[in-house]
Amino acid sequence: MADATYDLVVLGAGPGGYVAAIRAAQLGMNVAVVEPRERLGGTCLNIGCIPSKALLVSSHLYADASKNFAQHGILASGISLDLAAMMARKDKVVDLSTKGVAFLFKKHKITHVRGTGFIAAPGKVEVTPVGGGDKQVVNATRILIATGSNPTTLPGIDIDEQRIVTSTGALALPQVPKRMVVIGGGVIGLELGSVWQRLGAEVTVVEYLDRILPGMDKEVATMAQRLLGRQGLQFRLSTKVTAAKASKDGVSLTVQPAGGGDAEALEADVLLVAVGRRPNTADLGLEALGVERDKQGFLPVNAAFQTNVQGIYAIGDCVPGPMLAHKASEDGVACIETISGRVAHIDYNTVPGVVYTFPEIASVGRTEEHLKADNVEYAVGKFPFTATPRARANGHSDGFVKILADKRTDRVLGVHIVGSDAGEMIHEAVLCMEFGGSAEDIARTCHAHPTLSEAVKEAALDALGRVIHM
Ligand code: NAI
Repeated sequence: MADATYDLVVLGAGPGGYVAAIRAAQLGMNVAVVEPRERLGGTCLNIGCIPSKALLVSSHLYADASKNFAQHGILASGISLDLAAMMARKDKVVDLSTKGVAFLFKKHKITHVRGTGFIAAPGKVEVTPVGGGDKQVVNATRILIATGSNPTTLPGIDIDEQRIVTSTGALALPQVPKRMVVIGGGVIGLELGSVWQRLGAEVTVVEYLDRILPGMDKEVATMAQRLLGRQGLQFRLSTKVTAAKASKDGVSLTVQPAGGGDAEALEADVLLVAVGRRPNTADLGLEALGVERDKQGFLPVNAAFQTNVQGIYAIGDCVPGPMLAHKASEDGVACIETISGRVAHIDYNTVPGVVYTFPEIASVGRTEEHLKADNVEYAVGKFPFTATPRARANGHSDGFVKILADKRTDRVLGVHIVGSDAGEMIHEAVLCMEFGGSAEDIARTCHAHPTLSEAVKEAALDALGRVIHM
């Protein structure tokens, strides 16, 4: 095949790469995206955010129908699970989503070069087709690395994606395991642990630290643990897994207190390893080119997402910062707009994080722990959903909104929410923080009644010492 030349070649068609490609095409660049998967959208659309949300919604409906309909006077009987149908629906959601990206590529005349990219030199990418065959060379003025990340595992624990699975296997189990152990009380552990617990598995989350969701506000994480525990998730905190072996019938694990102590045996039908992800930057030819990589594999970049080698850029999970799909997309847009001479920036402090359990957990900005560590004087405003009529009407009044504002200036520094729809509600806080807004700004903004978002307003009022409904 003849060599092709582009203004930009992007490695990876995930939410970082495909969004960057679209923005570049909008700005008049001739763009190619190198991606081995036939279906565009990367981990997020294929084996991450989207299929997990499909299963979270389906499993929530199943649990609701089984346990909660009666409180509304709806007497449903004979509710049973058709897991194959649930999985087929999830696959359809993925299919539609990836086709949507393919449509956008067509619309913007972006070329998908199918295969695995290797940067042979600045401006030159060699692409190995899926299944082998002659390499294709793609030349471009600029190269953008958006290859995302892969799950990490623990030493001595071999992933087979049948008995010992990462999130990929946990999204496609052929039957509901009787007992599931999850290593890691982070986002993936809680989301996928919730899915299988709702569908009937006995789920134990083993977490090395003395708390779940490290990095999130401690009070919010404690509340989340209590609520998830009430639903049936079991937690073993301050505990490490020292060995796990899969057999035909299940997985035998050895756990031990994190600080040392007596070992204990645990049995599971499926073990989910969810202890973090690492960037996919190892096999791109970067070493030979002198592109700097840190110890964990992240690529240090400047504010324009440029690596230390001219013409090679990197975004998303490949660079330091939160490993989140929406952050990768923002990186991509900022990178392309800067390349095209526009002014763009992204403030990682205003990137929201959402855990899609029930209730959801959402967060933006600084936590109380951060502010204490930095000796910042802050006011706390809090409002529980039990005091919110809409939450009571919905039958979901667990959780609260917490606003942290600078004591001196009233500027909002962080907002943390546990509650149904927290992932939607957080955005008024994100917008407020992006605009440098204050608790007073939120408190003086009219919120529709009855809505869950009234709790955000009341929390802001509470930070100012004038909460109304409490
Ligand atoms: P994570 O970093 O969120 O959580 C990993 C957890 O495993 C931590 O609590 C950590 O203390 C624990 N851990 C580490 N080593 C351990 C050990 N040896 N024994 C027991 N526990 C151990 O990572 P996770 O959940 O794998 O997610 C990976 C990435 O994907 C994260 O960056 C996450 O933000 C992102 N993600 C985001 C989602 C969302 O935004 N809703 C959904 C899924 C993933």
